[in-house]
Amino acid sequence: MTIYRATVLDTPDDPFAGGALRADDDAGILVRDGMIADRGAFDRIQAAHPDHDVVDLRGGLLLPGFVDTHVHFPQVRAIGGLGLPLLDWLERCALPEEARLADPTYAAAVAREFLSGLVQAGTTTALVFGSHFAAAVDLLFTEAQRVGLRVTSGLVVSDRLLRDELLTTPERAYDEGRALAERWHGVGRNRYAVTPRFSLSCGNGLLDSCRSLLRDVEDAYFTSHINENGREIATVAELFGLDTYLDSYDNHDLVGPRSVLAHNVHPTDGELKVLAERGASVAHCPTSNASLGSGLFPLDRHLAYGVPVALGSDVGAGAGFSLLKEGLQAYFMQQLLGEQGYPLVPAHLLHLATSAGARALGLSSEVGDLGVGKRFDAQWLRPSAGTTLDVALRHAAGPEDALAKAFTLGTTADVDTVWVDGEVVSP
Ligand code: GUN
Ligand code: ZN
Repeated sequence: MTIYRATVLDTPDDPFAGGALRADDDAGILVRDGMIADRGAFDRIQAAHPDHDVVDLRGGLLLPGFVDTHVHFPQVRAIGGLGLPLLDWLERCALPEEARLADPTYAAAVAREFLSGLVQAGTTTALVFGSHFAAAVDLLFTEAQRVGLRVTSGLVVSDRLLRDELLTTPERAYDEGRALAERWHGVGRNRYAVTPRFSLSCGNGLLDSCRSLLRDVEDAYFTSHINENGREIATVAELFGLDTYLDSYDNHDLVGPRSVLAHNVHPTDGELKVLAERGASVAHCPTSNASLGSGLFPLDRHLAYGVPVALGSDVGAGAGFSLLKEGLQAYFMQQLLGEQGYPLVPAHLLHLATSAGARALGLSSEVGDLGVGKRFDAQWLRPSAGTTLDVALRHAAGPEDALAKAFTLGTTADVDTVWVDGEVVSP
């Protein structure tokens, strides 16, 4: 057993529902078999458990590991493709790179870079958009198991309008997905997610096969994209002849409490109502939305309808793996919305990057905060001495202020150590 001594910040009580930031200046966290067994003032914890090793993490901040609810494995090397809207970016930046993962040697290298990128960013749990190639998805799960992160992912499927190498058939999509799920779903920390790319590239037959797979793999997740870009939305409306984008998934029973839809920048009120009724979550990806010019996310409307929202980095349209950066960008974009914007404070940002993600992924009983009974999935933010963040933290007026400084100035370089289930994970 180990006692971690640190300044601990987390958000066990939803700040969007009136909860406050939980901040303990000199806390002791007792970890037994990867689980938090006790927590309180360090002096009390040490006195109660005098024989245990103490890991001194004073200086910096101990936060829950981040939960990234939308990030693309095959796009690590596509990060930085600036200057294009969604459909052009897919065609010119993302999809040519994704096609390269047909080569398993290439895919294995990208899987290592991808898992390393998550760890470097302090992310311990992720809902990962996989590859169109089953062998590459298998390599991703293999690497996730080796590194130790909590990964939910699956085979990405499409049967129209993308380059030929990335297309499949309903039968093959089912068979390959089923085989991957049998191999990896519930194995270690891995879980399977049924993943049609977006309904623009998926006909009704393929979405039907997704319904079958979701039905046949117990407790599998569902993830896709929705309402990201005007041209995309108009094309989907034309292809399906439906009233709303959401109907293209909902008509195939793909929308429920284990569904996470990315973006939703331009939802109708009707769609928000249905998402709330189904208990589905939305992954908000602020740097991607800014970079592709997709728009300003209507967080206030999601909250008004009761649609759960968490953060996603959306690498590679997003600007890197750091959810500190995503949190800051989310704050900026709500500011830019003026009257329609939701005035985010630091506790909201931490919640969106941790406990909200755990909830979206059905993992709230295990991760998302550093309370007693949770797994010790954590990150120690400890800026190098003399950096601007180091100075800022040392002069912070209090925990909220320290957290604001961490989101404003923090980068992956400030993530010193990352734990999953009490074990250090290394990039
Ligand atoms: N819609 C369909 N595929 C993608 C993707 O790879 N990135 C983003 N941002 N949107 C998508
Ligand atoms: Zn995406």
